Amino acid sequence: MKYLIPLSLALVSGVVADRFITVLNDCPFVIWPAFFTSSGGQPEQAAGWEAQPNTDLTFTTPDNWNGRIWGRRNCDFSASSGPNSCLDGGCNGGLVCNLTTGTGVPPATLATIDFSGESQDVYTVSVVDGYNLPVAILNNGGCGFASCPVDLATSCPLNLAGPFDSDGVPVGCKSACLVDALAGNAANSSNCCTGSFDSEPSCPSSGVEHYSYFKTNCPKSFVYAFDESSATAIWDCAKSSESNIDYTVTFCPDVSTL
Ligand SMILES: *[C@@H]1O[C@H](CO)[C@@H](O)[C@H](O)[C@H]1NC(C)=O
Ligand SMILES: *[C@@H]1O[C@H](CO)[C@@H](O)[C@H](O)[C@H]1NC(C)=O
Repeated sequence: MKYLIPLSLALVSGVVADRFITVLNDCPFVIWPAFFTSSGGQPEQAAGWEAQPNTDLTFTTPDNWNGRIWGRRNCDFSASSGPNSCLDGGCNGGLVCNLTTGTGVPPATLATIDFSGESQDVYTVSVVDGYNLPVAILNNGGCGFASCPVDLATSCPLNLAGPFDSDGVPVGCKSACLVDALAGNAANSSNCCTGSFDSEPSCPSSGVEHYSYFKTNCPKSFVYAFDESSATAIWDCAKSSESNIDYTVTFCPDVSTL
């Protein structure tokens, strides 16, 4: 009887304290996952690491964590430790992304997870700034899986394709908004929903170039600024009073399990 009290206290405090995120690399090649904290406390984990194929890493975050997780490809930190040390997804800081400036260089598929809500967790797989790896966000709470689980790079529309590896194979697919931004046209863009297009009525998905390429192949991803109207872009999961819901961010997920 004596031992039941500390046990139940531990259980209760476990519910309100940390959250668990597992990052799984199911790709047949090495990737370098990274995260960036948008708001809330910092996780007890370095903000970047090397992930061999078929390995995973679990870390805890404060229960108000709100941030993004992405994967980096073809990295070599020996020559430089800046955003260009990876072919895509690189960040300020090198292997470990800078906690204040290490947001990652697009195009990169972003898994965003927000634990800060009062009653629900909110998560997306975003290709708003482009794509670099297949990603899914799974959970053990019985809620839907956000995903962009297929390869969008090899069949990417030509004007969006890249960067390319040393064999000339694309390892990313930019969004039309990112192409506008790189050309210095992000301030007034129907692809970015900015300037004269900064409201939902003035920025329909039909005005976003190649929207259907992304949304048809990745229907459960967040494709452009006002994609919430598709009803499959932003996912949520009601918080449970019994146990915290755990999340897994899987790179190159097995599509048949989604
Ligand atoms: C992160 O970037 C800021 C701003 O450039 C810099 O002041 C800081 O030293 C960097 N942090 C680390 C750990 O390098
Ligand atoms: C934005 O560009 C459109 C043409 O695409 C133009 O009609 C509009 O005046 C511009 N708006 C601003 C705020 O520059």
